Amino acid sequence: MTGVTGSEQYLKLSVFPTSAYYARVHVQRVLESWHRDDLIETAVLVTSELVSNAVKAHASCPATTEAAAQADPDHIWMDLYRVGETIVLRVWDASPLTPVIRDPGPDDESGRGLHLVDLLASEWGYYRPSPGGKIVWCTLAPPASPEE
Ligand SMILES: Nc1ncnc2c1ncn2[C@@H]1O[C@H](COP(=O)(O)OP(=O)(O)OP(=O)(O)O)[C@@H](O)[C@H]1O
Ligand SMILES: [Mg+2]
Repeated sequence: MTGVTGSEQYLKLSVFPTSAYYARVHVQRVLESWHRDDLIETAVLVTSELVSNAVKAHASCPATTEAAAQADPDHIWMDLYRVGETIVLRVWDASPLTPVIRDPGPDDESGRGLHLVDLLASEWGYYRPSPGGKIVWCTLAPPASPEE
């Protein structure tokens, strides 16, 4: 995978239009290795939205901004880890701007990604780590069992 380095749970991506594809493949492989097929579809969808947003944010983030200068302006990264049965997914980018849920009209072609994340994730949010940029995170819980 050109531009991709990383271990099983951590993935550093060069910022390309194809980054979301590599992130989706990574997440699918990690969840398969964890035997968490129940969350693959959801995790892949959410990953796609968060990494696409990170790529777009990177494109609108000049390398001269303070956050980008302190951090790593050429890459984004993501990782995922387990807390009990819950999967935590994090995506970092160098932009200081923050995610905002939009209110798209029927003719708008954008502004839906975070709605999907909000729908599928148990929780999501963001924070600014000290090296700069920002991390958008979400938690994914197993689907509820049908009532007996
Ligand atoms: N990682 C991010 N960094 C900075 N701003 C972000 C980030 N993610 C989202 N945003 C902001 O939040 C808005 C809403 O994101 P959302 O994913 O819902 O829509 P979109 O990316 O504009 O369009 P779509 O996902 O439907 O193609 C974005 O337009 C952008 O302004
Ligand atoms: Mg989006």
